[in-house]
Amino acid sequence: MPQKKITIAVDGYSSCGKSTLAKDIAKALNYAYVDTGAMYRAVTLYALNNGLINGKQLDVESLNDELDDIHIRFTFNPETGVSEIFLNEELVEQQIRQMDVNDWVSQVAAVPEVRRKMVSLQQQMGKEKGISMDGRDIGTTVFPDAELKLFMTADLEVRARRRRDEMVSKNMQASLEEIKANLLHRDQEDMSRQESPLRKADDAIILDNTNLTREQQLAFALEKASRFIG
Ligand code: DC
Repeated sequence: MPQKKITIAVDGYSSCGKSTLAKDIAKALNYAYVDTGAMYRAVTLYALNNGLINGKQLDVESLNDELDDIHIRFTFNPETGVSEIFLNEELVEQQIRQMDVNDWVSQVAAVPEVRRKMVSLQQQMGKEKGISMDGRDIGTTVFPDAELKLFMTADLEVRARRRRDEMVSKNMQASLEEIKANLLHRDQEDMSRQESPLRKADDAIILDNTNLTREQQLAFALEKASRFIG
């Protein structure tokens, strides 16, 4: 009998390894994977590249006016085995991880019109189920009916070191202190925004991976998923 396809929402704080886990789950179950943070990052990159961020100010009005000009899509790359993000037909997988994007993404992600557009795209991508999606509001707003909701957390020091290692592996520079400050700042902004703030859905399962290996966290998630898949 074919396995039942479900929706898996992976939410939580910045740099807890949400995308690593959501990707591993998708691979194990042969599901699609969507990194929703990459979508908000791509909109932020658009704003930075098109003069919508000047000094300390995000021009929300112009961003809203230009929303229809922002086209985001993912395409699976069989060579790397992951889907890559395109902004207006340009591959921006690397650029969206830069520090200036990190610095602005929470403000861009707080704009209600931006969120509405992204949420609608995400719902479209997941309408057939069989999807593992990571973000901040997947279990609360995008897929409130998701069968499995995981809410990830980890010690700040561990999160900052993981983010630094990820950046170093991509030849990007940032100090541990700078990264820590950025993580705290983003979590604060994500939790305090009006429109779908970061919060644990009532029916989400907490997964603290401070002391877990990648294999252990995947085993935990798959065991929970198996209850729904049968
Ligand atoms: O997961 P990430 O660090 O790449 O996400 C980048 C930012 O995007 C993060 O600071 C919060 C925002 N975000 C969001 O508001 N909602 C989502 N579903 C995903 C990300």
